[in-house]
Amino acid sequence: MIVAIVSLFVILWWIFKSDLRKVQLAWNFPGPKALPIFGNGLELVNKTTLEFVQIIHGYIKSHGKFLRIWIGNELVTIFMEPKDVQQILTDVKLITKANEYKYLEPWLKTGLLTSTNQKWMLRRKALTPAFHFQILDLFIEVFDKQSSVLIEKLKVHDGKGPFNAFPVVALAALDVICETAMGVSLNTQNGSESQYVKNVNELADIVHRRSYDIIERSETLFKFTKTYKRQQHLVSELHKFTDSVISSRRDELKNKKISNSLSNDDESFGKKKKALLDLLLETKIDGKYLTDDDIREEIDTFMFEGHDTTASALAFTLYNIAKHEDIQGKCYEEVQNILGSDGRFNIKTLNEMTYLDLVCKESLRLYPSVPIFGRTVPEEMKVCGRLLPKNTSILIVPYFMARDSTIWDKPEEFIPERFAGAKDSDDSNIFGYVPFSGGYRNCIGQKFAMYEIKTTISKIILNYKIKLEKNFKPQDSLELVIKSKNGIMIQIESRN
Ligand code: HEM
Repeated sequence: MIVAIVSLFVILWWIFKSDLRKVQLAWNFPGPKALPIFGNGLELVNKTTLEFVQIIHGYIKSHGKFLRIWIGNELVTIFMEPKDVQQILTDVKLITKANEYKYLEPWLKTGLLTSTNQKWMLRRKALTPAFHFQILDLFIEVFDKQSSVLIEKLKVHDGKGPFNAFPVVALAALDVICETAMGVSLNTQNGSESQYVKNVNELADIVHRRSYDIIERSETLFKFTKTYKRQQHLVSELHKFTDSVISSRRDELKNKKISNSLSNDDESFGKKKKALLDLLLETKIDGKYLTDDDIREEIDTFMFEGHDTTASALAFTLYNIAKHEDIQGKCYEEVQNILGSDGRFNIKTLNEMTYLDLVCKESLRLYPSVPIFGRTVPEEMKVCGRLLPKNTSILIVPYFMARDSTIWDKPEEFIPERFAGAKDSDDSNIFGYVPFSGGYRNCIGQKFAMYEIKTTISKIILNYKIKLEKNFKPQDSLELVIKSKNGIMIQIESRN
């Protein structure tokens, strides 16, 4: 009997030891009162992301810019001070993503967004050249072509009253990423019903829901749900699609190489690179080419990370310039001066659009496409002067930081000039602005995204005057990517 009691005690002790250590370390951290076992979970679980974020905002208001919450026995910390954010994002020990990113793994496996440690470091080094300026210059042709299609599509709304611009620009962003990542034209702007696109959207919804659904959060319980079966089906369809694109591209390149060597044609494949996929097919790590599985996880990652983010940035930038017609006027003048009647979009002309650059930056400050992102603490360690237990989640919330009056003067106002003259190297507040994250795991597609946004917005304002629907205000919906529940309602009028 005594042996049984002692054994039970030892087992319980073994189970709760790490939790006790967590509680001990987090005891004095500021945060809302938490219940035993549930923590703050009863208040937070089964909420939409918007409700979740509103509750967290309330906690920040009452407890300050560092706080902890408990979701069951999961310890979650939130850091809002730019100097803390800087320390976290530039600490090489803190490159592992938060637990919620695991919901993406059935689809993205461990590509650049979700991988960690050695795998991530090698991949990041190998993929960085794919975003070099020379390559981006080639992609600008695609941005230009797809925004011309968008201008045509917008004609149906010319002078016809308010419409929701979000889904319209989302299709343009989707066509851009399909063509630049895979070299495939899905032509969604022209109404081609793409099963691939439907599958991507449905899967993104499942991933988003899992982060707040009490059943679907658990790997074990999730397997018993209908959603799990649906997820398996969607993942298999999406992988089939990417696999077929990879293998047909491989075949194309093989044939091209053979015909080049037969005809002694010295125009190498290198000069014709058009898609990120082509670069991945040439990438070697430790002297070995990437396998098809390696390539698929990276292409799927680009498709996921490079589509909704840019769509949201485009939609909210349109909202902001529609709301501030004087700012729109200045952008129009700048773009008109630079492109004139026959100017071309390229890196040089886009870099000259300095005012438009400030406008896009300011829009991303107030409406960061990725409103919240996170890390996991890999071992008990000091972070920003506090000893955090192993597996603590760290959340960084650019959406709240943008609205903090200790970081920004008149934070709720749209003032592009606040970025004028700020150089990346000398801005002491640089980590107060993290829509593309920062430090080691910053967005590899940042420049790609900025050129795409600038091309699309400048093309729209060259062709149309944009106005806001009377009294329209977006209802921010903080999902994996920020959206607006009531759309982005604008009106357009042709300039010709
Ligand atoms: C306005 C558009 C975009 C915004 C605001 C944005 C924002 C971000 C943020 C905040 C992260 C860090 C996420 C985290 O730490 O969990 C990130 C990572 C990433 N982004 Fe973007 N992104 C944009 C567009 C793109 C595009 C167009 C691509 C690809 C073509 C891309 C590819 C990636 C990848 C691969 C990562 C993971 C990088 C790593 O961990 O090494 N993003 N992005």
